[in-house]
Amino acid sequence: MVSSLRRNGVAAAALATVTSLVLAACGGDDDDTGEPADGETGQASTEFEFFSWWTGAGDSEGKQALLDLFAEQHPGVEIIDAAVAGGAGTNAQAVLTTRLQAGDPPDSYQRHVGAELQPDIEAGLVEDLTWLYEEEGWMDVFPEDMLDLITVDDRIYSVPVNIHRSNLLWYNPAVLAEVGITAPPTSWDEFLQQATTLEAAGKTPLTIGPSWTQKHLLENVLLGELGAEAYSGLWDGSTDWESSEVTAALDMFTQVLSHTNVGEAAADWQPALDPVIEGDAAYNVMGDWANTYFTTAQGLTYQTEYNVTTSPGTEGVFNFLSDSFTLPEGAPHRDLAVEWLRLAGSQEGQDTFNPVKGSIPARTDADASLYTGYLEMPLTDWNDPEIELVGSLAHGVVAGGAFNTDIDSALGEFVASGDSAQFASAVKEAYENTQ
Ligand code: GAL
Repeated sequence: MVSSLRRNGVAAAALATVTSLVLAACGGDDDDTGEPADGETGQASTEFEFFSWWTGAGDSEGKQALLDLFAEQHPGVEIIDAAVAGGAGTNAQAVLTTRLQAGDPPDSYQRHVGAELQPDIEAGLVEDLTWLYEEEGWMDVFPEDMLDLITVDDRIYSVPVNIHRSNLLWYNPAVLAEVGITAPPTSWDEFLQQATTLEAAGKTPLTIGPSWTQKHLLENVLLGELGAEAYSGLWDGSTDWESSEVTAALDMFTQVLSHTNVGEAAADWQPALDPVIEGDAAYNVMGDWANTYFTTAQGLTYQTEYNVTTSPGTEGVFNFLSDSFTLPEGAPHRDLAVEWLRLAGSQEGQDTFNPVKGSIPARTDADASLYTGYLEMPLTDWNDPEIELVGSLAHGVVAGGAFNTDIDSALGEFVASGDSAQFASAVKEAYENTQ
């Protein structure tokens, strides 16, 4: 059994940004209970709709395992899997916003913990689940820092189902061997040197996909170049976006991008991994959902047919994100939604979902024997007090709402122009306008 996840230290610093976003004026709605009734009719429901962006290979298997377990526990219930395709939820989040604004919520939906969830809480779109935490004894099994990310005014608003790691460099060992590279790069400078060798041999050094994967790469180049403390400072105003260090890190991002296939960027994260698998490219920076794509979808063997290490310059740092499930206000089948959340937060639910999803449980009492192969690494690192924790930008931990939207627009222009000064000033202004 895993004894405990960390409860203080760097994690608290990294997460301070998010906690500071909490508005004193909202939440506190404590009219919620676990009443086992349909939200509309008071009768037991026979239908349940779960909304997520887990559709393609590598993303859908974990969700399916959890939905199957839920179906087994609720025979006769029709399960509607309302997933909208597109990694990191870029398309799904737009569809969800439209539905929530139209008063047409699903029974439960996926959201990242942290800044991404805050606007929903502030707008009163999700129910207070504190009573469920008390009923299930969850206050003692989720790490305090994790609970802070989903708490407003002492009320808790979602159920975290996992921990994913963002700062990973996936690679094809055969490609490295073919061009005489003995080990993956430990800094972005070293990556640039290797890129020359790889390009001379006709290989793409690093593959990339749509905008959100470019943002995912950006956060990890910033982290690798600036270090954990200065990276975290980007999200709480303590690191100046217009400093020479940040400008240099942004210029490094532009250089790294020039050794990718950004001109013909893949449609999503899975096709971005394919050239690595096929031996046409060496590296890809992606979260650990990639492990499920390599193993379950492609049948590859860890460490021989594909391998992974921390992204350049981030050894000793865990850049994390977490998927959580909510109970929307007005959920049509609230009784089943509550049962779904009970399952998602349970040890059985988390140990069913995570080994298949390529993540580790958000709970502290996982059965460690289930987390084998690649998954041993994040489980060990997450529990190692020497490892520094920071929150992901591309997956909702450190920036949400209008700030995040402004970063997306500025990044689109930055990738096209390479103008780091313009990007830094746009993000700085967006930060100041949204605090
Ligand atoms: C992340 C999400 C992961 C995985 C990934 C790719 O945002 O947290 O669970 O689904 O996107 O779609």
